[in-house]
Order: sequence, then structure tokens, then C-alpha cells
Amino acid sequence: MTAERRVHIKSFGCQMNVYDSHRLADTLAPAGFSETSRPEDADLIVLNTCHIREKAEEKVFSELGRMRVIKEAAAIAGRRVTIAVAGCVAQAQGREIVRRAPAVDIVVGSQNYYRLPALLARAERDCSVVETDFPVEDKFDNLSPPSWAAIRARGVSAFVTVQEGCDKFCTFCVVPYTRGAEASRPAANILAETKHLAQAGVREITLLGQNVNAYDGEAPDGRRWGLARLLARISEIPRVARVRYATSHPRDMDASLIAAHRDLPKLMAFLHLPVQSGSDRILSRMKRRHTRANYLDTIGRLRAARPDMAFSSDFIVGFPGESEDDFEATLSLVDEVGFAGAFSFKYSARPGTPSAEMPDQIDEATKSERLYRLQAAIDRNAAAFNARCLGRTFDVLFEKPGRHAGQIVGRSPYLQPVQVMAAHSLIGQVAAVTITEVSSNSMFGAIARETRAAGD
Ligand code: 5AD
Ligand code: SF4
Repeated sequence: MTAERRVHIKSFGCQMNVYDSHRLADTLAPAGFSETSRPEDADLIVLNTCHIREKAEEKVFSELGRMRVIKEAAAIAGRRVTIAVAGCVAQAQGREIVRRAPAVDIVVGSQNYYRLPALLARAERDCSVVETDFPVEDKFDNLSPPSWAAIRARGVSAFVTVQEGCDKFCTFCVVPYTRGAEASRPAANILAETKHLAQAGVREITLLGQNVNAYDGEAPDGRRWGLARLLARISEIPRVARVRYATSHPRDMDASLIAAHRDLPKLMAFLHLPVQSGSDRILSRMKRRHTRANYLDTIGRLRAARPDMAFSSDFIVGFPGESEDDFEATLSLVDEVGFAGAFSFKYSARPGTPSAEMPDQIDEATKSERLYRLQAAIDRNAAAFNARCLGRTFDVLFEKPGRHAGQIVGRSPYLQPVQVMAAHSLIGQVAAVTITEVSSNSMFGAIARETRAAGD
């Protein structure tokens, strides 16, 4: 019997970290750890960190300040609290984290976290443990499967990591350094995990990867599958009603993947396709390996394959050398595509990346002013997209009770939350909903007809 212990895991950054945090909790469960949302109750605190922009990194160190206070208060009460830093800041900074924040006991890189139970035992003997090498073994083979109770607690929509790392080396980005080279998980492994999730009640699967559409994994028959093949096989799993994937690179949207949007009804008509800039001069300095015209062509081909397709994107403003004309090209691209939504960021110079060394850095005030204008353009397009949904009927996957009594809330194919007056028994089901009201931050609808859950 292992003693009952509590772990508090806080995730920063991308969906990959959310997935890793879940898997980390699953890996700690056999060692007697259950999760708590209150750090004050925890014996082990894990911060799963993000290094993508300076702000994300600063957040980690301010959070560590708060966790140190909790650790010291527990020590006065005679209770030991272990603090671990995992994820991309751990990978990038290693021992430097312990120097800056001595309360940290364990630093564990993004490829090593399955070793946390073993590292805990070492941290109890040594003063601090740092492990950030890239091991040869596939970390996914070393993780414990989640229990059904854990899956249910996490809801009807789940992530499955299929690919990690990046070989693209865009000049602004730390990912190739923190997550390493592109590596795809064997398909059999992914199918087994997805079946397990579906049997426990998960209805929507999002395949994750830093460059998910560069997926090139070993197939059960020993050949290699691209993402389109994998999506087709995931779609065949009983009870999987919806399939998504993120994040894609425009260069890797090949013909088979575009055809998958035409051929696979369970593949949602929504794609997050980061473009970063609308200016060819900046795209080239970013080393994105695509032009504005390539990007628009891909969007056009996806729309031809699936006319109800909608898009979201990522943008960076104030990349070194970005002129007012370059920025206006980004604004015009937003209007040309008519994005349903997008994330936009001020350029952040990251140590070790080529663009951090470029001489023509943009001042903070210009970045702020451009971000404001870009966000206004994105919001205007998102509002227009939502307004066009009024009166439309589409499938909603219901996830949980809504804000008001008798309401339940689900997501549209485009990830908008939709509130509907309907029975709680529909949670976990897909039903056709007609959109009756659209306001600035919510959408309301009515059940169009009872639908048999897709995939049954
Ligand atoms: N500065 C600002 N934004 C960045 N991103 C990646 N690196 C940086 C950086 N150095 C953004 C990109 C990417 C998203 C995940 O984060 O838009 O698509
Ligand atoms: Fe970073 Fe570019 Fe790789 Fe995306 S494609 S993770 S932006 S280097």
C-alpha cells in the first residue's frame, strides 16, 4: 500500500502542456497521488511551464514565488512539500531555475516527466534533481494509461498527442530547441489510447502536435502513415463523434489532408492554421517557407473541399523590420480570409533564436499599437462570422450544465460555446441545434431535432 498523497499540477501555455499534465497525473496515480486544485493541500506541486514568449516565462517565476510561501508555511507546520518545474522552461533553463528559485526541488524536461515518480524518491535524498536530457526511449511507452474515473472527470473532449517537436526553425521560435526534432508516435499506440478514451465516454478527439500535419508515424503494418490516414482510422473508432487536429503548418497541408476534409464527416470543418504575417517580406525573414499567396491558395482549396470550412490563426506583430506597409498587409489578410477567430501576439525576442539577433527590433509602443489594431480587425471578423451563424443549424456536442437552470452548453463545429435549454441527459451527445441568438460572447440555440449520437 502506498500512502495517500496529493499533487497540484498547474499548466501554462499550449494544449500540449495540458495533455502532458493529464498524463503526468496518470503517471503519479500508481504512486498514490490524487489531484488537488488547491496548492495549499498538496504534497507535490508541479508547474508545467511554457517558454514561448518572455511573458509566459515571467509568469512561471512569479508563480514559483507564491509556491515558495506555501512550501515554507507547510514546513513550519511540519509537512514537507516538493516543488517540481516541468515543461519547456525546465527544458530550456535546467539548473538555472534552481539558482533563481531555490525552493524548487526537481526540474524535469518535457521529454522526461514520466520519470517524476523516480525523481521524487531522489529529491527526498538529494537537495535538488535536474533531468532535462532527451532520452532515446519513447516517453509515451513509459506513461501509465488514465483511469476511467480520470477520463470522466476531464470531460467529453480529449487531446491525444501524436507528434512532438519541430524541424522548421522559424527564426522567432524556441520550440525546436525546447521540444526537439519532429518525432511521430506509432499509429497503433495512438489508436489504442483513443479507443480507451472512447470506451470511457470521450466523444471528441483532438490530435495534437507542434507540427501535427507533419505526422509521419509507423503504421501497424510496418509502413508509414501521414495525418490523413491516421484521421481516417481514428474516425472509424466506435463512439468517436468528432475529430480535430492542431497545430498545423501551412507548408504541410498536402492534398491528402485537404481531401480528408471532404471525405471524413467526423472531421470538423474548422482549422487552426497559423500564418503569423500577411507580408511576404516578413514571412521570408521569419523563414516560414510559405508566402501569402501559398497560404490563400491552401485556404481556397480547403474551402473547395468543404464549403462550410472556417479558420483561425496565430499572428505576430512587431517582428524585427516590420514596416507599417508590412503590418497593413497582415490587416488586409485578416479581412481577405475572414477568420472566425485568431490569437495575436507582440513579438518577443527569445534568447538563442536568430530573430533575437536581428538589428531592426521594433519598439514596444509600436508593437502595442499594432496589436490593438490587429485585435480590432480580428474581433470584427469574428463578430461577422458569429452573426452569419444566426439561423444556421449545426451539430453541437454537449459538454456540461449551462449558466442557468435547465440550460446545457456545448460546442459548435467552430468551437463556439452554444447554450441550449435541454435535458442534462444530452450531455455527451451530439444534437443538431438551430442558432437563435448571437451576442458578443455567447450563442444561444434550440434543439432542431433529437439526433442519434453519431458514431453509435
Ligand atoms: N514572440 C511572439 N509570439 C511567438 N509565437 C511563437 N514564438 C513567438 C515569439 N518569439 C507565437 C506564434 C505561434 C504561437 C504558438 O506563439 O504565433 O504560432
Ligand atoms: Fe515554432 Fe515555426 Fe516550428 Fe511552429 S513551425 S513550432 S512557429 S518553429
